[in-house]
Amino acid sequence: MNLLVTGAAGFIGSNFVHWWRDRHTSDTVVALDALTYAAEPANIAGLDVELIQTDIADTERVRSAIETHRIEVVLNFAAESHNSRAVLDPSRFFRTNVLGTLSLLEACRQAGMVRLHHVSTCEVYGLHFYTLNRHHSAQEILGLLRSEGRV
Ligand SMILES: NC(=O)c1ccc[n+]([C@@H]2O[C@H](COP(=O)([O-])OP(=O)(O)OC[C@H]3O[C@@H](n4cnc5c(N)ncnc54)[C@H](O)[C@@H]3O)[C@@H](O)[C@H]2O)c1
Repeated sequence: MNLLVTGAAGFIGSNFVHWWRDRHTSDTVVALDALTYAAEPANIAGLDVELIQTDIADTERVRSAIETHRIEVVLNFAAESHNSRAVLDPSRFFRTNVLGTLSLLEACRQAGMVRLHHVSTCEVYGLHFYTLNRHHSAQEILGLLRSEGRV
């Protein structure tokens, strides 16, 4: 499978790239990242992964990357994720998280892509109600309740 991982030099994106590379050694993994202050490209250095430095809002370059590498799945981890900074510069968040995501979708549409996984937060997707059972540890249950602001 050929994957395009956006935000691949960020915290979760880079961990995902390592995770996927370890388990799917014959897949093509292309990393795309604007390399903002939040990026740590060293985290994916040395892997069998091509890194394309560009903004997800650059529809033309993203479409070209999808077509050139015959990408089948896009995983979007690119985001302005340090939410407290939005107080200082909200437009930057709107540009990447809203307009950038729209541009990425458009690039996928133009390239005839069928599958995109958009990674976001519970603030966007809402709370999930899990069925907890005896297999969950006390730590897991506490973590879940904390993440939902219930304790
Ligand atoms: N870190 C967490 O604990 C956590 C928890 C839940 C959800 N998430 C979500 O996961 C996603 C990734 O989070 P993260 O912690 O890895 O963020 P991060 O800030 O560590 O990484 C984001 C990456 O996206 C890149 N980027 C930013 N703007 C870009 C743009 N316009 N074009 C291309 N690349 C761009 C940055 O350079 C960076 O490498 C976000 O949507 C975040 O909300 C994160």
